[in-house]
Amino acid sequence: MNLPQKIIIGNWKLNETVAEGTVILSKLHQELNGFNGANVVICPPATHLYALHRELAGFRSLPKLELGAQNISDFESGAHTGEISAAMVSGLAHYTIIGHSERRTHYHETDEQITKKVANALRHSLVPILCVGENQIARHDGKANQVVLDQLNTDLADVTAAEVKNIVIAYEPLWAIGTGNFAKPAQIEEMLRLIRNALVQRFGKPASTEIRVVYGGSVDGENAKAILNLQGCDGLLVGGASLKPKEFATIVRTANPQAGISA
Ligand code: PGA
Repeated sequence: MNLPQKIIIGNWKLNETVAEGTVILSKLHQELNGFNGANVVICPPATHLYALHRELAGFRSLPKLELGAQNISDFESGAHTGEISAAMVSGLAHYTIIGHSERRTHYHETDEQITKKVANALRHSLVPILCVGENQIARHDGKANQVVLDQLNTDLADVTAAEVKNIVIAYEPLWAIGTGNFAKPAQIEEMLRLIRNALVQRFGKPASTEIRVVYGGSVDGENAKAILNLQGCDGLLVGGASLKPKEFATIVRTANPQAGISA
């Protein structure tokens, strides 16, 4: 059976100019020098997508790098100043992050908005990278599982079994993001298993088989291999370390193409 590769996603957040981003992308391509053992997705700021899309079209050798947006609007079009729609992104990228905790927390994005964003992404052939995860208080109170299950239930409410294979779920505990304090292996495995079981229950085994469930939160060149080798880990969502081409290439290379995904 031809299993999908692991997926390594870089989230550049609010960093780098277009010119700087172009340099990072081409250095990453050089560093990876033909490596073809993982899906690599870069999510730069939206202003960079056009330039990076053109840059990628000029690369003649492997690896194939793909682009993702960091966010899309819950609206399709109209009077929504400052928003960027799924349709606008879809010619330039194949993926979009949706529901990152920084958007949920700092921009008060609700699960209802995220449900609409997921539907918009799928309608315009973008693969949603749906982020879920609990904060420190929920973890401390023993409510981490319930928070994640509630997010999944609402955020995927409008998704059908036929569509769900085009989704990546990223488990990102808030307390692990940007803190250097990555989750413990047992915590990651438990949560990835919980997510996988919830997906199987909701969409059935065949439909869930192709969904990739990944971990994010303080992943770096040192811990990537151990995390990626955990049971049920189909990839990584990397923030800070994705801005450093050498380190990000090290992370990407830890993906073992033989391993396939977990379902
Ligand atoms: P980090 O960010 O790797 O810098 O912790 C991860 C993320 O926010 O996606």
